[in-house]
Parts: sequence; C-alpha cells; structure tokens
Amino acid sequence: MNSIYDELIKAYESIKDKITAVPKVALVLGTGLGDFAENIDNQTIIDYEDIEGFPQSTAPGHVGRYVLGYIGGVPVVAMQGRIHYYEGYAMDKVVMPVRLMKMMGAEILVLTNAAGGINKSFKRGDLMIINDHITSYVPSPLVGPNIDEFGERFPDMTEVYDSDLRNLLKLCAMKNDISIKNGVYLQVTGPNYETPTEIEMYRKNGADAVGMSTACEAMAANHMGMKICGVSCITNLASGMANKPLNHKEVEETAAVISDKFKRLIIDFVKMTEE
Ligand code: HPA
Repeated sequence: MNSIYDELIKAYESIKDKITAVPKVALVLGTGLGDFAENIDNQTIIDYEDIEGFPQSTAPGHVGRYVLGYIGGVPVVAMQGRIHYYEGYAMDKVVMPVRLMKMMGAEILVLTNAAGGINKSFKRGDLMIINDHITSYVPSPLVGPNIDEFGERFPDMTEVYDSDLRNLLKLCAMKNDISIKNGVYLQVTGPNYETPTEIEMYRKNGADAVGMSTACEAMAANHMGMKICGVSCITNLASGMANKPLNHKEVEETAAVISDKFKRLIIDFVKMTEE
C-alpha cells in the first residue's frame, strides 16, 4: 500500500469515533484568524497531538487542533492551526490535515491566510478572494507515488478555486457591506519574507498577494475532488512597497483588526452553502 495513504488511514482510524456529525465544510484558519473557531457551536475538539502520525503545528498563532461543530446549523470542521512547509515538514505532511478533513467527509474547503499585498491597488486590511494561484516556487505535494484512492496521477488545475463558491463569497461580501478584492495568490516557502526584487518578479509573474501556505493545500484538495475557495487577509504591503521592514507582529495585529469582517463574511458564506 502507498505509505502516505497508509498513514492517513491510521490517522483517520484513530479519530473516527470522535466525529459525531459528518462535516460539510472544512475551514483552514490562517495566521491570526484562529479565533474564528469561537463561532463554532457544539464543539468537539481533536488535538493534533492525539492523532496518530500527525504533524504538530509550531508556528506562532497556530494552536494545533481540529474544531468540529456547527455554524448556522451547517456541520463544519476547522483547522485551528495549520502546518507550513517552512516548519521543516515534507509537503505530504503539510497537506495531511487537509486530506484528513476530506476523509472525515467534508466536500467544500475554505482556505484562509494572511498574505502580503503585491497588487499596487491593495491596502493593508483588505480581503481578497483567491481566483487562482502560483505554486511554481514550492514543491508539489503530489510528487511521489500517486494515491489512486484519492485522485488521478495528472490532475487538471484549470479551475482550482470553484467559480460558484467565488461568486457566493462575492455575494456574501456585498450583503455584509464588505469591500473585497480578487486576485492571484503566490506561495513561497518562507520563513523569510521576500526581497523587494523578488516581489517585483512575482508581480510580473501575475501575482496579487504572497504568502507561505494555501496553494499546496489547494493542490492536494483539488486532487481529491474537493470544491475549493480561498480568502487572503492582506496583512501588510509586500516587501519594498511600504518603506519599512516586515515583521510577524504586524501580520498578526492586522489579522486581528480584520477578524470582525472576516468573521461576518465566513459565517454568512458557510450558512449560504446550505441554500
Ligand atoms: N510575505 C509572505 N508571507 C506573508 C506576508 C508577506 O509579505 N504577509 C503575511 N504572510
């Protein structure tokens, strides 16, 4: 058997009795956005450390647990704390939590993150719906023997971020009076921020925002046939754009400021997936 698949089956077996309701929507909460899990009713907590063979999140602001429950009656599972490539894990470990949420039964994946704004019209504090991504600067999580049980060897990537879900996000933003941008997210390995010249290059590549996560998770989820959407919180202007050095504190602080509109958007979105 494929060893990565084998590990996932073991992880699933070790938690399956705790899944009281099959989640419909899976949420990955990005840096500074973990508190969103407070909005989940009837919570069941599964700590990553209690899951067999599971990676542990070491990034500041990432707790390291699943929160299962309901938002507006819709069964959900949220990752309060994600795994990043820069923590030293191989890509198959980085995407393991997302794969496990699909194994729990989730059909829809909402990826969220903190990101640096590259598009010159973006401001610190903006929200951006991810239209597409660039992963050319990080390894693919699909390298290695294909997991046939999940998907095909050469998956199509024409529409990773589902257009119906993107439209639903736009609608929810409008209803809630939240102005929202659209754009292309580019994933880098981190943990260092970029140089101004790299940001120039990424802008020429067509990127609107840059971050250290998300696209690899979208790739693995797309392989498994999940319906995916993503929202970036523009926590800072990218390197060289604001005449000051970047730091993680600013990222966390801005994410906290955005958290109220983020919360309204995502709660409404989850509820609307049922309509
Ligand atoms: N670069 C990379 N990752 C990030 C940034 C950034 O500017 N801001 C938040 N995450």
